[in-house]
Amino acid sequence: MSDPTTSGLSRRDLLKKSGQIAAASALAGIAIPHVHAGENHTIQLALVGCGGRGTGAAENALSTKLGPTKLVAMADVFTDRLSDSYKQLKDTGVAGQVDVPESRKFIDFEAYKKAMDCLRPGDVVMLTTPPAFRWVHFTYAIEKGLNVFMEKPVAVDGPSARKMFKLGEEAKKKNLKVGVGLMCRHCAVRHQLLDRIRSGQIGDLLLLRAYRLAGPTAKESAPPKPDGITELLHQIRWFHSFLWASGGCYSDFLIHHIDECCWMKGAWPVSAKGSGGREYKNGDHDQNFDTYSIEYTFGDGTKLYLEGRTIPGCFQDFASYAHGTKGGAWISKDGHSPAKCRIFKGQKMEKHDTKEIVWRYPSKDEPNPYQLEWDDLMAAIRGDKPYNEVERGTEASLVSAMGRMAAHTGQELTRDQMFRCEHEFAPEVDKLTMDSPAPVQADKEGRYPVPQPGRKRTREF
Ligand SMILES: NC(=O)c1ccc[n+]([C@@H]2O[C@H](COP(=O)([O-])OP(=O)(O)OC[C@H]3O[C@@H](n4cnc5c(N)ncnc54)[C@H](O)[C@@H]3O)[C@@H](O)[C@H]2O)c1
Repeated sequence: MSDPTTSGLSRRDLLKKSGQIAAASALAGIAIPHVHAGENHTIQLALVGCGGRGTGAAENALSTKLGPTKLVAMADVFTDRLSDSYKQLKDTGVAGQVDVPESRKFIDFEAYKKAMDCLRPGDVVMLTTPPAFRWVHFTYAIEKGLNVFMEKPVAVDGPSARKMFKLGEEAKKKNLKVGVGLMCRHCAVRHQLLDRIRSGQIGDLLLLRAYRLAGPTAKESAPPKPDGITELLHQIRWFHSFLWASGGCYSDFLIHHIDECCWMKGAWPVSAKGSGGREYKNGDHDQNFDTYSIEYTFGDGTKLYLEGRTIPGCFQDFASYAHGTKGGAWISKDGHSPAKCRIFKGQKMEKHDTKEIVWRYPSKDEPNPYQLEWDDLMAAIRGDKPYNEVERGTEASLVSAMGRMAAHTGQELTRDQMFRCEHEFAPEVDKLTMDSPAPVQADKEGRYPVPQPGRKRTREF
């Protein structure tokens, strides 16, 4: 199992390293050393999955300052998504680095191959589709000798997690650098908090709590499938609604909170139990619960309590908290960035009780972790440093799936049971074409199979 405290190269090493690289190249006017064999040392990029995050990731990649970068190819399964993304990128400060003529824009389920074929070994592909396709696209990237940035989650079930662990090892053997979009791990302020927790400032950690209590979010509550779109493409368009595509809203939305808590704890949970329900769903047009309440247990018996909700009109919170024998901490508050990390003398940790605050970092000065994760990846590529976040990203995805499955089945589940679980949500995901049937089918009323805790105990639907 991966060590939740590490990320291959520490942030401090990377910052030191990138500082050295930048200084050396500026002073000597020489080329920066990296594994790339291209004659002009420009790192070329391809974007696979041109949605909201893919477009943002491309902008972050092109904004890195360690050497020239250029976006040369784009792939999607929807023409409108690709052209919107292209237009958005052409409207940013990095527009001059976007060199994607019509001949390098690809649409269909094989588009990822065509986009990666435009790259040379040592270039970077961004895998920002729904997670179901991660192992498929990553397999081809490794074959082509490409460095990779991939969004979280990287797996949705036991079988896809097992594939990703193996692929991560193959990428390591080929010295490929792989970043996983758990950007909070690159947050400079959370790193300071971690150092303080490790040095004992809040004593021994006894309890972690995390909440993503919001109204309806993103694509987690699909409407009935409209006419004029295939069932498969409808499910991809509403990927948070379908467990095969995303791991559902639990995996997709809660993974950051789970990961940052485990990072602070320095361990992954060994088991989970929990509950949830579909209180306010208007027809079964998606497979999610709208409330989740999970108790994760670590090997030493301490707990992480996690709550997720997507119901309007309720109390809201978006935060992770740590409780120690000598005080407490906000790991994050009101969103992922700025983190608003704080250390408090006691356990109340109330916003306005400034007398209780022992340490804080001014939020307005907080660097953007979505940019830092790219600065770190590019520093590793150009400095040829080991950099592979796959094991850690897969463990976070697996532990997320464990909590989700515990709620969906109503059973207590261990991490190893989740790892060995044979229910593969979309076994043929690598063979999909535009005409394929969708991995999950609706009944005559357009309802999809939903979890039934206590009734379906060994599979989620
Ligand atoms: N790190 C973060 O904070 C963060 C934030 C948002 C999203 N994400 C992650 O990014 C990923 C994408 O999320 P999003 O919000 O951008 O969704 P999105 O729907 O906006 O984008 C996904 C894109 O991938 C395309 N696509 C789907 N299947 C494809 C395939 N087989 N081949 C090529 N293209 C395909 C879709 O058409 C769409 O354009 C998810 O894994 C999500 O969890 C991470």
